[in-house]
Amino acid sequence: MNEQHFFNFLRERIGLDVDSVGAPMVERALRQRCSALQANGLDDYWLRLQQSHDEQQALIEAVIVPETWFFRYPDSFTALASLAHKRLAELAGARPLRLLSLPCSTGEEPYSLAMALIDAGMAPPSFLIDGMDISPISVTKANQATYGRNAFRGNNLGFRERHFEALEDGHRLHERVRQRVSLQVGNVLDPALASRDGLYDFVFCRNLLIYFDVPTQQRVFETLKRLLHPQGVLFIGPAEGSLLARMGMRPLGIPQSFAYVRQEETLPALPSVADGKSARSVPVPPRIPSTPLPRPLRAAVAGAPARSPQGEASTGTERELLANIARCANAGESQQARSECQRYLRQFAPSAQVYYWLGLLSDTEGDAPQALTHYRKALYLQPQHPEALVHLAALLAAQGDLAGARRLQDRAVRAGREPGQ
Ligand SMILES: C[S@@+](CC[C@H](N)C(=O)[O-])C[C@H]1O[C@@H](n2cnc3c(N)ncnc32)[C@H](O)[C@@H]1O
Repeated sequence: MNEQHFFNFLRERIGLDVDSVGAPMVERALRQRCSALQANGLDDYWLRLQQSHDEQQALIEAVIVPETWFFRYPDSFTALASLAHKRLAELAGARPLRLLSLPCSTGEEPYSLAMALIDAGMAPPSFLIDGMDISPISVTKANQATYGRNAFRGNNLGFRERHFEALEDGHRLHERVRQRVSLQVGNVLDPALASRDGLYDFVFCRNLLIYFDVPTQQRVFETLKRLLHPQGVLFIGPAEGSLLARMGMRPLGIPQSFAYVRQEETLPALPSVADGKSARSVPVPPRIPSTPLPRPLRAAVAGAPARSPQGEASTGTERELLANIARCANAGESQQARSECQRYLRQFAPSAQVYYWLGLLSDTEGDAPQALTHYRKALYLQPQHPEALVHLAALLAAQGDLAGARRLQDRAVRAGREPGQ
């Protein structure tokens, strides 16, 4: 029995493409589960996995990436507020607006939708929000609606004062927001979702497709398209748009919103995937090798080597400053992390790692132009900086520069293969 059986199981059950998170991450999860069950090797664990639904769920919990925070990609929520007003006027009271957040993880995304609509002046009965995620643990946390610091990132935290009650160890969402959101455990690959065809005016499916291979992405996009009302809008993650043009969807053109509508609603139909002749003229979608955008800050900074620009080990003070940047970024203190980066650049020679962090901080705040500049500086200083390569590729892909994205992805793959990386 080798790991491939488990990789296949995860692909079939949740769509996970192991290459997207890296085989070592999944192998670590397998080791964890084997030791939790005191299994006698992979053969024994495979048998027990087949016999136990609970164990299947435990393995899934061990490999998912639940990273999320409130108002991630802020411009998409601004866009939603104005699109929702327009849609509500079209509906003229016939029914409430219906929104779906899939995957909703621990609830930050569907609750942000509710807060954005309330802040835009919409009375709660005028909209309903569903949230769905494959992870029962995440959905339970979402139902508890109590959040620590990591859920609040960026500098624009006024919503916390308006919609949360401060507790000793976190913040609890007000009941009037919580009530607008119905949460449930569910799988985006579940054919039963077809019962909701055409139901939703707005579907948010962000930072899930990056973990799928292209055929699975295509299958999920078909599902999402069907879930959307014909006049509906689909919001995706910054790195996930490349397939959509081939599937009859076009970007709405609102910068940094990553919002798409059906092509046929406003423009003549584009070639469909089934149309062999036309489909060949459409660029092949870029494959983002291993890192979603923006990558969880915690993972990114924890794995960051403390190196000077010349690749030598840092001095004591330099190391302390780098560690401090990591600490601030991990705690969600973006402003502090940014000013520590600036302090570093004033005191020491330019560093690829520090420019990469600055890029990541801008990415997290949805400032793509700044993120591009910083990632480019990082690559100027260290042309094979793997994280900067992957993130810049994802940003270029999101902006439609598929050829540029592919060049960087190839470089990232080569960099990953080189000894010492
Ligand atoms: C990175 S979070 C994204 C959360 C949120 N949409 C965002 O962008 O902040 C990815 C989530 O996808 C969920 N997930 C993974 N595979 C899934 C599947 N097949 N169906 C539903 N949810 C899935 C995971 O449990 C995890 O909570």
